[in-house]
Amino acid sequence: MNTTIVIYGSSTGTCETIAEKIASKLGCKALNVQELNDAIVEENQNLILGTSTWGAGEMQDDWYDGLKTLQNADLKGKTIAFFGCGDAWSYSDTFVGGMGELYKGIKESGARFIGSVDTTDYKFDDSEAVIDGKFIGLPLDDINEDDKTDSRIDAWLNVINPEL
Ligand SMILES: Cc1cc2nc3c(=O)[nH]c(=O)nc-3n(C[C@H](O)[C@H](O)[C@H](O)COP(=O)(O)O)c2cc1C
Repeated sequence: MNTTIVIYGSSTGTCETIAEKIASKLGCKALNVQELNDAIVEENQNLILGTSTWGAGEMQDDWYDGLKTLQNADLKGKTIAFFGCGDAWSYSDTFVGGMGELYKGIKESGARFIGSVDTTDYKFDDSEAVIDGKFIGLPLDDINEDDKTDSRIDAWLNVINPEL
């Protein structure tokens, strides 16, 4: 079954709201990573993973257990896309770094990763989420650029949707 699920970690609700928005546009469910378990990973072919960034470029706290669940699962043949919520003005050196940490935790899993994003639309100094010159997923700065969030999501979904 070619099912899709959005899984998010969110401390103050920003990434949760964005996850709900993405899920509603995809016509699928958004799940808090606190609820993630082996069966959910197994049941879904496409995983859309979202994390905000805390500390200095770190994943949202709940993802540390969530990542272990993903690392213990068989992700071979699954399709995975990332989105990250951050703040490029206050944390310009570690912008959406959590998204990079999440990717690095499962990059050897055999999954197919889709949805990398050009850096040109963003002003930031450094990010662990930039891999080979592109963001590994969709960065969203809902703190400073909330006016761009919807159009960024739509453009990204147009790219990844045919791959799901
Ligand atoms: C203490 C603190 C540390 C943060 N560190 C980063 C960071 O390193 N990089 C980044 O892009 N955003 C950082 N942020 C911004 C959050 O990721 C941003 O506010 C996000 O929207 C929070 O989403 P959430 O409410 O879904 O957890 C930080 C925010 C706080 C309060």
